[in-house]
Amino acid sequence: MQQIAFFSFALFSAASLLTTADCVTPPNFTIDVHSHIIPDIYRQALIDAGYPVINGSVYTDGFQVPQWDLTSHIAALNVQNVAYATMSVSAPGVSFLAHNPPAAATLARNINNLMFNYTQQYPTRLGGLCLVPLPDVQSALTEIEYCLDVLHFDGVGLFSNFNGTYMGIRTLDPVFQLLDSRNATVFVHPAAPGCKGADLWYPDPMSEYPFESVRAMENMLLTRQRANFTNINIIFPHEGGAMPYLATRIADIATLPFAGGLNLITTLQEFAGYVFDTASAATAVQLGAMESFFGGVNNIVTGTDYPYVPLPVTALSLVSTQGNGNFNTAQMGRIQAQNALSIFPTIVKKFGFASK
Ligand SMILES: *[C@@H]1O[C@H](CO)[C@@H](O)[C@H](O)[C@H]1NC(C)=O
Ligand SMILES: *[C@@H]1O[C@H](CO)[C@@H](O)[C@H](O)[C@H]1NC(C)=O
Ligand SMILES: *[C@@H]1O[C@H](CO)[C@@H](O)[C@H](O)[C@H]1NC(C)=O
Ligand SMILES: *[C@@H]1O[C@H](CO)[C@@H](O)[C@H](O)[C@H]1NC(C)=O
Ligand SMILES: *[C@@H]1O[C@H](CO)[C@@H](O)[C@H](O)[C@H]1NC(C)=O
Ligand SMILES: *[C@@H]1O[C@H](CO)[C@@H](O)[C@H](O)[C@H]1NC(C)=O
Repeated sequence: MQQIAFFSFALFSAASLLTTADCVTPPNFTIDVHSHIIPDIYRQALIDAGYPVINGSVYTDGFQVPQWDLTSHIAALNVQNVAYATMSVSAPGVSFLAHNPPAAATLARNINNLMFNYTQQYPTRLGGLCLVPLPDVQSALTEIEYCLDVLHFDGVGLFSNFNGTYMGIRTLDPVFQLLDSRNATVFVHPAAPGCKGADLWYPDPMSEYPFESVRAMENMLLTRQRANFTNINIIFPHEGGAMPYLATRIADIATLPFAGGLNLITTLQEFAGYVFDTASAATAVQLGAMESFFGGVNNIVTGTDYPYVPLPVTALSLVSTQGNGNFNTAQMGRIQAQNALSIFPTIVKKFGFASK
């Protein structure tokens, strides 16, 4: 397969989906697309569902859920030099209530209403990404319309899988259809694997999350769900997890007749049509891989993963992104704000930014 892989470099100059004109923003204006809230009602719901509590902290996917409150969140934005953040709920979202869809829908609604309250308190600092009660498709459709039409959220938060229902599974088509009809921007957070066979019981975020992003992109490729719904802007955190390293391999194997018989270049262009955030993924190796395979800086947006990644680390993330990527000011402008503004027209409108 080596000879096929050879063609995969430098394909992507035309593949970027980010085509909107740049905006005039204040200097250093930075948007964080990966910023989590953990309201008390969510923490309590996790505890009630039986997630382990150790030393007073609840753990999900083997990871300690940090302390969080709104005031500290705004203070953190200031320390991080983040002007505006889109809030989302991290894994497991509400899919731990998959056995009780009405309970999942109610918890999602209550948290979306709370997020709306935060956006009203801090309209120029915070925007919402809808928490969606999948895998129940009907209640998910209701909630997405409520978030976009009534709460005017900036976008929608999804997960690599919902209690085993992976992105790409065609029962999710109605959800993709709705998002596509809105040209919505979707943030796909990795979750614990929906298949437990390979789990060695280490914290899932350590190595399973990066492969979850791969599984979601791979499945959307091979079921052709992504190819059918191209108006959705899709952000994968952590520079796509392991995807920059596996994209060529997946695209090569997907050319084989028994594995899909897909066109190599079209597959790589599909992957390069995603948007990737910098959270915990701003090493020189990761940024270099993004640049080689995914169209330079045009598909990179800023993410911090606050508060799961602690403030002393997130506060330095812009600095380390610039240093490790060796990016110039114009490139940092894209990564800090312009790329995000091109997929979040609601934010452009909120600030009244003019086009350059
Ligand atoms: C629990 O708290 C005690 C006392 O603060 C500490 O010594 C111990 O390491 C903690 N255990 C865990 C698992 O965090
Ligand atoms: C821009 O943001 C970076 C990263 O937070 C900070 O180090 C730098 O001082 C800021 N520059 C200006 C001109 O505000
Ligand atoms: C947000 O919720 C708090 C507490 O319920 C309430 O006091 C406040 O008025 C709400 N703010 C907005 C803008 O809705
Ligand atoms: C789905 O959720 C049920 C409980 O609601 C749980 O027993 C099962 O392990 C979950 N399956 C997956 C794949 O997460
Ligand atoms: C979505 O984008 C297309 C252009 O790609 C545009 O024609 C259409 O009007 C947009 N739809 C909405 C709902 O914004
Ligand atoms: C898109 O969906 C339609 C019907 O839902 C299907 O017939 C078609 O094959 C799909 N196209 C691709 C590229 O997946």
